[in-house]
This record gives sequence, structure tokens and C-alpha cells, in this order.
Amino acid sequence: MNIFVHEKTKTFHLQNDEISYIMTVLPNGHMGQLYFGKKLHDREDFSYLLEGFIRNGESGEYCAEEQEGRHAGYPLDCVCGASMERLRLEYPSCWGGDFRQYALEILQDNGSRLTDFAFSGYELLPGKPRLAGLPATYTEEDGEAQTLVLKLRDETAKLELTLLYTIFAKDGIIARSANIKNTGKRTVYLERALSLCLDLPDMDYEMVQFSGTWTRERHPKVRRLEQGLQGIESIRGSSSHHQNPFLLLRRPDATEMSGEVMGFSLVYSGNFMAQVQVDTYDASRVLLGIHPDGFSWKLSEGENFQTPEAVIVWSDKGQNGMSQAFHRLYQRRLCRGYWRDKARPILLNNWEATYFDFNEEKLLKIARKAKENGVELFVLDDGWFGKRRDDYAGLGDWVPAKELLPEGIAGLSRKIEEMGMMFGLWFEPEMVNPDSDLYRAHPDWVLSVPERKETLYRHQLVLDFSRKDVVDYIFDSMAKIFRESRISYVKWDYNRYFSECFSRALPADQQGEVFHRYILGLYDLYERLTSEFPHILFESCASGGGRFDPGLLYYAPQTWTSDNTDCVGRLQIQYGTSFVYPVSSMGSHVSAVPNHQVRRVASIATRANVAAFGTYGYELDLNKLTGEEQEEMGRYTEFMKKHRELLQFGTFYRLKSPFEGNETAWMVVSEDKKEAIVGYYKVLSEPNKGFDRLKLAGLREDVLYEVSGKGTHYGDELMNLGIITSGDMAFRTGDGYSGRGDFDSVLYFLKAE
Ligand code: DGJ
Repeated sequence: MNIFVHEKTKTFHLQNDEISYIMTVLPNGHMGQLYFGKKLHDREDFSYLLEGFIRNGESGEYCAEEQEGRHAGYPLDCVCGASMERLRLEYPSCWGGDFRQYALEILQDNGSRLTDFAFSGYELLPGKPRLAGLPATYTEEDGEAQTLVLKLRDETAKLELTLLYTIFAKDGIIARSANIKNTGKRTVYLERALSLCLDLPDMDYEMVQFSGTWTRERHPKVRRLEQGLQGIESIRGSSSHHQNPFLLLRRPDATEMSGEVMGFSLVYSGNFMAQVQVDTYDASRVLLGIHPDGFSWKLSEGENFQTPEAVIVWSDKGQNGMSQAFHRLYQRRLCRGYWRDKARPILLNNWEATYFDFNEEKLLKIARKAKENGVELFVLDDGWFGKRRDDYAGLGDWVPAKELLPEGIAGLSRKIEEMGMMFGLWFEPEMVNPDSDLYRAHPDWVLSVPERKETLYRHQLVLDFSRKDVVDYIFDSMAKIFRESRISYVKWDYNRYFSECFSRALPADQQGEVFHRYILGLYDLYERLTSEFPHILFESCASGGGRFDPGLLYYAPQTWTSDNTDCVGRLQIQYGTSFVYPVSSMGSHVSAVPNHQVRRVASIATRANVAAFGTYGYELDLNKLTGEEQEEMGRYTEFMKKHRELLQFGTFYRLKSPFEGNETAWMVVSEDKKEAIVGYYKVLSEPNKGFDRLKLAGLREDVLYEVSGKGTHYGDELMNLGIITSGDMAFRTGDGYSGRGDFDSVLYFLKAE
């Protein structure tokens, strides 16, 4: 890893074993993008990559001597006549003659939105600086990464722009963010401040986004790039079930295993925009950051604004190559704390077992059975506090309901620990029911517009987390429970989107800050709680996977992947989620049959085989199973205890997509490649099937592996020929096989001899 700086040509080259990211200072002082992709040799001068053809149709050498002095056609055109709209730019602003979408828009006191940031200096830093108040990837040792800090200045507006670029030593990763500072006396308003702009010279890509809604999150959607705008967004206040803050660009010939792929991920949990704009010259511009709609940030003298971080991963090893780089980075250098590297406890959550219908006796009965089956953590979900006997009341009143729990959470958590399990608790800290003591005492603490109706969703309102007094109050309520009870785990839920995003605590000209200030308040609360209670394992949740984003992984190393606990639905959801997020981050439970979301009846084996590629747990009352079923569940619990390290932290490969047929397959391989586990799933049983083979990945070609039920094979056989799976699940007539029916699955274990 190196950052080459060529002072003479003003060229910056960030390089590691995989990639090169090359920029230069353009003649007008702006930062220009020269190249991003596979590693190149460094050289002093890459200016041949500047193809700044003259706007009116003449073409010529970029910045040729004879063109010096020519009048610029548009405000920010280079003096040599190269038009802004033909240049590849690092952080473009509006009004300057680059007519594409832009990264920055600043409203100044005279009404102008034109800014002109020119290079004013740079700095090289070992490692990676933290971003104040925001989650971000980090380094533990300076040698893990290097950071280039580019300084730009708009002398007229007295503004400073700082662009941060971190290159990591391993994998094709660049992390970027921007900071805008008002060094003048006049107040300005940031109307748009994205985290990343990347201009690519062609449009020969497919774009993949991960879309869905409640109970079917992160389904991949693919389209070929075309001239014009294409993209995704959230203006719901959070990253959302509907779109994930992530975009993938892949060459049309790229596959899971090979080819050029780029992923763009935003480390943020609020409104976002991710766009690709292809211009009329077939050049592509990728933009990623806080959604500018509803955003306006007042910057007074001396104040600065830090954008969230955007992470780019480039790989020529296909989609799996890109995903594995994200997994390594997010698992080890985004997630933090005590639980980061630890195999996750096997939990039982009472939600689908009881919903709101419980008392202490019932919970202890469920917990006892869970303990008998090897469960390590008992989690009490919604309904334990205030008047919360259903979802109409009580949110916000974080006081244990004595009529359900006579000795409160302190007593219940003690009893659970005495059984030999850890205890976990559900909160929905950001919300309030109007029927609650909190709302009655502080009706102004919610997001709502004066003199307008307050819109309820799930009978609740959003607390105004842009206010410090509100965040302080919730911190105190939660910390009190944590201090007086024995809490090892918290499920942090969030069950509605924003509608009236207005804060009573801010003046009119700062209402455009509420969305982002809310997220800063949320991060602040997480930061304070995780600092004071570092041993608590936090799992974030938002009606399932409505906030499965890198921002929250910084505080909570696992996320409840979806409220859909059906194993077939989960194949699709976990498959899509795995494009960015590691197995160790995916909350996944075995639930009862018929399944509560889709009424499907699937075997314990398949339910467990799907949940095994996640944090693993149960979402049912084991007392309701037959003795035989309980034993089978117990065997899966033991199985997970034995293999969870490998399942959660091994190198993960997608092998077969549930979106392309009846079968899904994926696998994990240990770091030393001596062990692997393959999950192979078939949705519908098929009669009289032909020859099935499942090609594996990530093994050593010349190593002999013992494959469970399949004898011994070299890695090259397993990867090039595949495991012969015919008959393992297929229903065949007349030849001795009796298929096991629909929703079948099998796990194969591989061990190097
Ligand atoms: C939504 C979550 O996703 C569920 O798992 C459960 O915790 C409910 N909220 C409780 O209200």
C-alpha cells in the first residue's frame, strides 16, 4: 500500500496490491479523477488520461499551449477550454457548467449556489482518522491503511473543503468522506453534501441494487446502465427495508467467481441517495450520500459539516470477491467491541412464542426448556414495561410492569442467570405511544408539525432524537435498567418511518437539519450506551431488516435480518444481505411451523440449516414440540456450538442463487482452508431429476477433503467437477430413492485429510 504524490504534475496515486486510485489537480484547481481500477504501475505523469475535449466540437490536446488564455465558456471551465462537463471530477458542485448531477450545493447569503473549490494543499496520514460523531471504518495499527487529506478552498465564499481518501493495505478498498467548513463571517446553507462522487469513463456495467419491503428485504434487482439517471434512495428517515444504502456495478461478463465488480456502500442509517448518471458521452458518474431532499444545514462562522463515510470495494474476483472484502472490513474494522470477534450466543427470543401474552411464570417455563436444549441466552421481547399489553400503549415508559414481572427485570434477569443462561431485553428507544406517561409529560418531544395532525403508524410517534434532552432522558431510562439488572444483550427495535420531520427545538431555517441531527442523536445514544456497557451485545432491528446498514453495525455487530422467519423466504433475504454484510451480522432464528408469516411447514432440518448461516437462535416455545422434535433441535444447538466459529467468521461464498431457480447453495471455508461447510437447499421436490452437481469454491486444489457422505475428493474435483448431489434431495421413482419432499436441504462438511 502506498500513496504516491507527484508534486510536479500534482498527481495523487493511491495504490495497493489490488487497486489504483489516481487523481490530479486540474488547471482550474479542481480535483480531477484519472483512474480507478486494477493496480497500475506508478508514474509521474498520467495526464494523457485527461480527455478534456473542447466543448464546441473542436478536439485537441488537453490544455495545449496554444489554447492557454482562451476564454472559459462556463464559470468553472478550465482556462485551457476543457469543459467541466467533459471532465471526470472528484467532488463536483452545481452551477459551474458541469451539467451532470453534483456532490455539493451551498446556498450563500447573496442567493448564489456557485462555489469554486481550488486545491490548496494536502496531507498524508498513517492509518485512518475517526469521523467525529459518525460511525466509520477504522484501523488498529497505522500500517493497516493510509489516508490522503486533500484541502480545497473557495476564496470568494471563504469556505474550506476537505476530502478524505483512505486506502487499506488489504483488498481493493477506498473509504471516502468530505468536510465543509465555513471560515468566513457570513452564514451559508449546505443544500447537498454527498460522501462520494466517482466518474468512470464508460457505461459498460450492470447495476445491482437490493430492494424489498417488510418481510422481503434485500432482493437483488439488476439493470443495464443506460444514459440518464438510475438509482435508489430512502427519504423515510432511515436506510429502510425498501432500498439498502449500497450499489453494485459489474461488467456484464462478471459472475460470482470472476470478473470486475465494484461495490459502493454508505456507512449511514438515515436518508440516502445512490445514483449512477450516464451522460451523453457514455461516461458514468456514481454518487452516494445523504439524500439532499429535505436536507439543508446551516453553517455559521467557524462551523463545519462532516459527511458520512462511503466505502468503495473493487474486485476482479467477481461478486464473491467483492463481498468477501466487505465482510472482512465490516466484520473486523467497522464492528467494534467485546463481541466483535466472538462466536455469538445461541438465543431464544419469546416474540413468536408468546407475542404480548406472557407473565413471569410463562417466561420461566419457556426459558427452562430452552436451557435444557442448550440455549445460552434468553431474550425477552416487546411488552415488559409500562402499560404495554399490546402495541397501543406504553412505548417510552421503560419501567418494568410489576403485574407481569413481580420482581421487575432485575428479578427476572437474576432468575435466568441462575438457570445458567444470559439474559437479553427488547427496547424501542426512539419511539413513543401517545398513550404513555412520557408523551403526556412531553408532547413536544416528538417529531410533528405545530397545528397539524400527528400521524400514527403502529399507534406510535417518533421521538425527536435531534434534541439532546430527549436523548439524555432515554439514555437515563435505559442505563437505569442496565445498571440494576443483569443484561447481556439488547434487541434495539425501530418500528416506523418518519412523516412530519419537524423539531420544536429548532428555528425555521434549521428544520432541514432534523433528519440528520436525528441520526446523530441515535449514534450518540448508541455510543454512550456501548461505552458504559461494553459487554452488552446489541442487535439492531427495524421491523426486521429495515435498518440493516453499516452505520448501525459500528455499534451493534448483529442485525435482525427480517421479520420473515420462514426458511424459504430467508434463503432469498440472507442471500441478498450477504452481498455486503457478513454472516456474523445476520440475526437468524428457527421458528415454529406453520410459519407465522407464510404458514409454510418446513422440516426442523431445513429451518436450522438456513438459520445456521447467521447468528442462530430460536423464536418459539420448545415446550410445544414433541420430545423427538426437542431432541432434534437440541442436536442443532450442539451442532451450532461446534461449528459457529466457522459458520459466522469463515470465508463465505454464494454458489447458487435462490433468484435463479429452485436451488440455493452457499458455503463457508476456514481461513486455513482445512474445513468447510456447504449449505444446499431445494425449494420444491422434483421427480426423476437428471444429473446434479454442485461446484464448490475456495478450497485448495491439491488437498484431499473428506466430504460427509461423499467419500474423499481433491479440492480440484470439488471445485471443477463438483459434488454429485443427485439423489441427495431429488425424488426419484422406481430406483430406491424416496425423496424427502419440498423445502429440503442438506449440509456437507469438508475436512482436509
Ligand atoms: C418488530 C420486530 O422485528 C419483531 O421481532 C418484534 O420485536 C416486534 N417488533 C415487537 O414489537
